[in-house]
Amino acid sequence: MTGFQFNTTKSLICRPGSAADLANSLGQALGGRLLVVTDPGIRSLGLMDAALASLSAAGLEAHVFDRVEADPSRSTLMAAVTAGHDFGATGVIGFGGGSSLDVAKLAALLLGSDQPLDEAWGVGNAKGPRLPLALVPTTAGTGSEVTPVSIITVEGDEKRGVSSPVILPDIAVLDADLTLGLPPAITAATGVDAMVHAIEAFTSRSPNNNPLSRMLAREALRLLGANIETVCKDGKNRQAREAMLLGSMLAGQAFANSPVAAVHALAYPVGGIFHIPHGLSNALVLPHVLRFNAQVEPGLYDEIAADAFPALGETGQGRTTAFIDALVDLSARLGLPPRLRDAGIPEDALPRMAADAMKQQRLLVNNPRPVSEADALDIYRAAW
Ligand SMILES: [Fe+2]
Repeated sequence: MTGFQFNTTKSLICRPGSAADLANSLGQALGGRLLVVTDPGIRSLGLMDAALASLSAAGLEAHVFDRVEADPSRSTLMAAVTAGHDFGATGVIGFGGGSSLDVAKLAALLLGSDQPLDEAWGVGNAKGPRLPLALVPTTAGTGSEVTPVSIITVEGDEKRGVSSPVILPDIAVLDADLTLGLPPAITAATGVDAMVHAIEAFTSRSPNNNPLSRMLAREALRLLGANIETVCKDGKNRQAREAMLLGSMLAGQAFANSPVAAVHALAYPVGGIFHIPHGLSNALVLPHVLRFNAQVEPGLYDEIAADAFPALGETGQGRTTAFIDALVDLSARLGLPPRLRDAGIPEDALPRMAADAMKQQRLLVNNPRPVSEADALDIYRAAW
């Protein structure tokens, strides 16, 4: 027994309609002047209108910063911070997909403390304090509402992360109604991302891998595995949407405390260089990293195989191989492109991607099997 520490978001509100009742959900926690961080798509779809009306009816002032892009850049983050300064924000709300939530986390940090961003990168380096922070996810995937991590794309297309309990939000508001209109392609990719969080958390070599994370990862895989195809075919299915949002959050809690590994490390260059959405980047390398890991540990995924795919059965030989094959089949049924080349990645980019993946040592140390640059290149070749 080496002991462990488990941190999560203090207040979790999981209820259909909770975003439309946002002022009630927040209470006095964020003060009276709220910087709302989102992306232009959410704004133009009107997804936030009811939430803003609720804030206004409660007498709370909101300033909406709606310029977050996919793979958010350092300059977008700094623009959000400037907007918050100029507005005199007392609290920050992130409203959207993983990108908006990530920008909101670091905006709350930089608005609340004098620590420069360049001193906050890495694990445990952000010191705070930060402004009060609430996150409202509109996709079921990142689990960002319960993780202490924010990923920003910096100069040279490098994805850099801040990981610190200081940026765990105060409040997460999960409202499945916000996800009812998500198109199937985004639903599929974000859902696979959540499954990867659970898989990598369960098998993480982090010294903080712990029984709570493993329990949450397994329940997450049950919910995600049972509902991911339903929500891709029938996006308006509220029950299945809520199960996905809950599964994504549980997987987030799992990996927030038992961090992800080589699937994410190898996915980041795919997103950073080619702007492939994070979930799809993960799906493209997932089976190949798992096969690489299983070469040295053939039973590595036996325990969780039937959580995601009950047809694989609770006992019996070869479930790790069957599990990896089932993930490949699932991606195909969800309509995700199977190979890196199908996502438009040229073969001659693979060496640069392998070199870039080596910068993700923060994640690679958690992988069940050490990954060298040559290994990364082999995995990319297999995925190409
Ligand atoms: Fe992820």
